[in-house]
Amino acid sequence: MIEKTSPEVGGMGHSIKRKEDSRFIQGKGNYVDDVHLPGMVYGHMVRSPYAHARLKGINTEKAKQLPGVLAIITGEDLAKANLAWMPTLFFDKQMVLATGKVLFQAQEVAFVVAEDQYTAADAAELVEVEYEELPVLVDPHKATAPDAPILREDREEKSNHIFHWEVGDKSATEKAFQAAPVKASVHAISQRCHPAPLETCGCVADFNRATEKLTVYLTSQAPHAHRTLFALVGGIPEQNIRVVSPDIGGGFGNKVPIYPGYVCAVVASLTLGVPVKWIETRSENLQSTGFARDYHMTAEIAADQNGKVKALRVKTLADHGAFNAAAQPTKFPAGLFSVCTGSYDFPTSFCEVDGVYTNKAPGGIAYRCSFRITEAAYLIERAVDVLASQLKIDPAELRRRNFIQPDQFPYKTPLGWTYDSGNYEGAMNKALEMVGYQQLRKEQEEKRKKGEFMGIGISSFTEAVGAGPAHTFDIAGIKMFDSAEIRIHPTGKAICRMGTKSQGQGHETTYAQIVAQELGIPASDVIVEEGDTDTAPYGLGTYASRSTPTSGAATAMAARKIRDKAKKIAAHLLECSETDLEWETGKFFVKGAPSKFKTIQEIAFAAYTNIPAGLEAGLEAVDYYDPPNLTFPFGTYICVVDIDKGTGEVKVRRFVAVDDCGNVINPMIVQGQIHGGLTEGLAIAFMQLIDYDENGNVQGGSFMDYLIPTAVETPHWETGSTCTPSPHHPFGAKGVGESPNVGSPAAFVNAVVDALSHLGVKHIDMPITPWKVWAILKEKGVVN
Ligand code: CDP
Repeated sequence: MIEKTSPEVGGMGHSIKRKEDSRFIQGKGNYVDDVHLPGMVYGHMVRSPYAHARLKGINTEKAKQLPGVLAIITGEDLAKANLAWMPTLFFDKQMVLATGKVLFQAQEVAFVVAEDQYTAADAAELVEVEYEELPVLVDPHKATAPDAPILREDREEKSNHIFHWEVGDKSATEKAFQAAPVKASVHAISQRCHPAPLETCGCVADFNRATEKLTVYLTSQAPHAHRTLFALVGGIPEQNIRVVSPDIGGGFGNKVPIYPGYVCAVVASLTLGVPVKWIETRSENLQSTGFARDYHMTAEIAADQNGKVKALRVKTLADHGAFNAAAQPTKFPAGLFSVCTGSYDFPTSFCEVDGVYTNKAPGGIAYRCSFRITEAAYLIERAVDVLASQLKIDPAELRRRNFIQPDQFPYKTPLGWTYDSGNYEGAMNKALEMVGYQQLRKEQEEKRKKGEFMGIGISSFTEAVGAGPAHTFDIAGIKMFDSAEIRIHPTGKAICRMGTKSQGQGHETTYAQIVAQELGIPASDVIVEEGDTDTAPYGLGTYASRSTPTSGAATAMAARKIRDKAKKIAAHLLECSETDLEWETGKFFVKGAPSKFKTIQEIAFAAYTNIPAGLEAGLEAVDYYDPPNLTFPFGTYICVVDIDKGTGEVKVRRFVAVDDCGNVINPMIVQGQIHGGLTEGLAIAFMQLIDYDENGNVQGGSFMDYLIPTAVETPHWETGSTCTPSPHHPFGAKGVGESPNVGSPAAFVNAVVDALSHLGVKHIDMPITPWKVWAILKEKGVVN
């Protein structure tokens, strides 16, 4: 059977004809898609319409005859160069282009290169692929059943089971459960969703045959790590590779892995000797690049009659799709999921996770979260609400009885983490006060009497960000430190380069502020550059809210090295000893004689014009910062919802978010981070799901089905803060970018369940659509 390759799902497979498509208007910005190089050609993927099928043959003849087609690369071609498979970031391997069989719908089968993107797309439609359908596995619970089809024939183990991982004290937890008078449990699914950054993934690979240098303009959250992986896998000497990550239109973890399109563009450029651009479509992004979550979790809490927790037991099934392409530190098969004891003082706990393969797109990326912490925070915050409801204790009061107390920090959790600092009750009290909690509970009581549905949901989450201490954290073997290089020019202006890479978080502003704070050079005199591996110092990139705890810290440390040298120059200029000098932001002055001083700008000039004997010229420093621990930001979010009985629609009336990320560099940027993350949390709670039918056809593969919240759906966010500095970070900051995405889903769901709890509703899985709510109201006899 000869099949056309393009699956007619989610609008995918339509060739691009509209010349006016704004994606192709040149010179609009500084994104990868704005890169236009002389002689550049275009790549387009041929993708599988089937979720599981044997590849019987590929016929490229018709496609090759289309004028403008330059090359068609298949898996067999790549196999000759040993590139048909590539390693994932998590010890697995992944097909670049399919050989033998395909394992998920929209898997990459062939790469067409043509003179323009329209021809490439049209030619992809002409590639004929013969498939023989195989039984499809979409339900992770059936993955290890005796009759389940074995998906990964390439592996020695003939099983769909990937890993079993456990942590904690199993027998102490069992004993605590046997002794406890109260047990509460919840089964919650953190559903498969997608970061859906507005800019899809793409690259321009430019191999210059004369210089033998490969430049890759890449939508990369980790340009240095990607350069090293290109060198290790592709065999190109690393000094000949330059990765440039220009402006990034959102990453959220989606731009951490290496995707087949990147590899194919590089191979095509090496083959043809011209720059090759590959930009995926929206549907390709949703259907084939790193998905998030897909954790099927059960939490059980053992407690006494007063709601004091005694133990937590967690069992989770992780659906990784066709390849385990989780982008997370290698020692953590389930990421940092074991932060699942959250903000509570559990005497003992046990957590186990099993990973399985299914016929779905690969991934397991940290979508705006520190490697599975969103799943963990969601689970524990749901579970404590279930316990509170079971014991008929107010959920705020139950939390208060169990919070880790401020004097317990540094606090070692039963699952092995050491929280640096916290004041959970302080954050919750502030949020309760801001929202007017007691008043709202009274209002809820009144409304219930009238048959109206109003709910209040609390989430008091703890995050763990800043990977990481290099002794524990690495990605693909590369230790997780990060870096900063600061150069002060003779006129006192500065350029700073970091190993991280902003995707809209405002590093250009906040890093400059750190330099200003440490050296007294105005932030407007500081240029911040990231993302070019030829110039920036080596680093692991930006994801998992690690930038402030790592490169932010490195920036402060490099500035302090500069200050140490500046002191020597100031002593020389002021003709005194270094010990006679004192620092006040921006200048050294002589102790007891404040009028005798030298500004940092004067010192910078002297560093190039009047250098003390024995001292090197220049004023610059680099720092590779290895944090001693993660930082543990936290907060309390409170959501108030009203439910329309007639339609099941949930309206978020109020949402109060109190965050604590230690010392804040820039309150406006932090607020922006919170607003954005809450909006994503809202979407996950109410709108977003990447689902599959029994044949493995992806549902939610376009923005028609995978909904993005607009201003219409987004409520007004009320933000507040408390400040509990990190004791180990150079200026007491903790990361913050992910807190709202981590903390908010539980607040939304808790609010909806709270609104329906008097009907006996204990849990509703996300996304909580109007239809789901209406079906519950109907089942409970509230509506006909
Ligand atoms: O790694 P990523 O930049 O995504 O996360 P982050 O370290 O949480 O920082 C997000 C943005 O918030 C950056 O511009 C930080 O400099 C800023 N921030 C801040 O101003 N104060 C903090 N305590 C933490 C972050």
